[in-house]
Amino acid sequence: MSKIQAIKGTYDILPGDVETWQEIECVVREVMNVFGFNEIRTPVFEDTSLFARSIGEDTDIVGKEMYTFIDKGNRSLTLRPEGTASVVRSFIEHAMDQRGLPQKLWYMGPMFRQERPQKGRQRQFHQFGVEVIGSSSAMVDAEVIVLFDAISLRLGLDNRTFAINSIGGDESRMSYRDALTSFLDTVEDRLCGDCQRRKTTNPLRVLDCKVPGCREAVHGAENLPCTVDYLTEDDRDHFEKVQEQLTAQSISYTCDYTLVRGLDYYTGTVFEMHYEGLGAQSAVMGGGRYDRLVGQLGGKDHPAVGFACGMERLVMAMNAAQQSKSSRNVQVYVVNALADSMVRAMNYLQAIRGAGYTADMDFMGRSMKAQLKSASRSGAMFAVIIEPEEDMVSVRDMEKSEQNTMSFREFIQIMGNSEL
Ligand code: HAM
Repeated sequence: MSKIQAIKGTYDILPGDVETWQEIECVVREVMNVFGFNEIRTPVFEDTSLFARSIGEDTDIVGKEMYTFIDKGNRSLTLRPEGTASVVRSFIEHAMDQRGLPQKLWYMGPMFRQERPQKGRQRQFHQFGVEVIGSSSAMVDAEVIVLFDAISLRLGLDNRTFAINSIGGDESRMSYRDALTSFLDTVEDRLCGDCQRRKTTNPLRVLDCKVPGCREAVHGAENLPCTVDYLTEDDRDHFEKVQEQLTAQSISYTCDYTLVRGLDYYTGTVFEMHYEGLGAQSAVMGGGRYDRLVGQLGGKDHPAVGFACGMERLVMAMNAAQQSKSSRNVQVYVVNALADSMVRAMNYLQAIRGAGYTADMDFMGRSMKAQLKSASRSGAMFAVIIEPEEDMVSVRDMEKSEQNTMSFREFIQIMGNSEL
């Protein structure tokens, strides 16, 4: 008799691993609560047209990846490939706008996409996510990013950086679309078959095509137009406010002006968080603003923004972060290359240890270069280099290779705010 096994692209979460999942679930619930979000649970299958109309016929998800079946009542049903469409459907169906706006909703559960399975890519995977419906404020775009940052900080993810962009509202996207189409005309013969078609039906989709030759022709080109150059004044202003707020909240981000995301409903800010060391599938979360979707699905027009996090990838990121922490001997390495500063260096070393961090320094009178090498070998996150001026140090972030000069007191304060 042939062995019955889990379906390709699905897997069991066994005791030993399930505890990490429980930890994530706990942290997500707590942080959602602190941020004033309410949980919503929707069915795992829906009318197929819900996803086709929201995610977009031209996307990979709808075009190639949905688990769609005809039930015994001859209805076309689909296992949900994501949560946003279902939450919006539920928001409209239950007239949730009557409960006060904005509605701040969160969800967690399995999603289904028939993708080619590989590390970090399953056919049944899990997401938690949020949808804020009813506010067009740039502050809310920032708020959902800050919320995800808070969750990942609690789960021990170091070096979190968000990639952000704005694809703008209808007017901005129309002018970008024109510029992009003109550009795509110039590389048409290098595009894959799907993208040659998308060039006329939905050119933005070409930007997230995964075919290597296509990617190289498009993303490798110097004259690929940038979304941000085609934003209306209002859209530009909105995007600047998001950035100001992220900076004010000390969120680390970079602007990626070719980021468009793989779903059609976005209308403004878009963002992703990638985590180093996860291989090809490095996007842990993604989201953005989708101001037209509620109206498109038959509700009153309500602006909205949200994100979803892939929980399998989050577990992988947590493991990677844990591994890099446990390969670390000390967190801080004090570097002293000055002849008369040994006492100062020892005092700093003790102060750092007293503040609860592991720390070491060189006792062999080596050169600055050799000491920095030892710092790197020790796995320290920071090297604190003694400067000749009283109480001044240069702090080198060993991973980013960035260096800033500050007072030692300031350094201790910064350490208190970091997740070391
Ligand atoms: P998405 O980018 O399609 O966005 O998915 C979000 C996250 O789900 C990805 O960053 C990834 O971590 C995870 N994910 C997606 N597909 C797979 C897969 N096959 N295997 C493992 N993990 C996967 C959305 O789903 C939007 N609904 C996000 C959103 C919410 N936008 C606004 N609100």
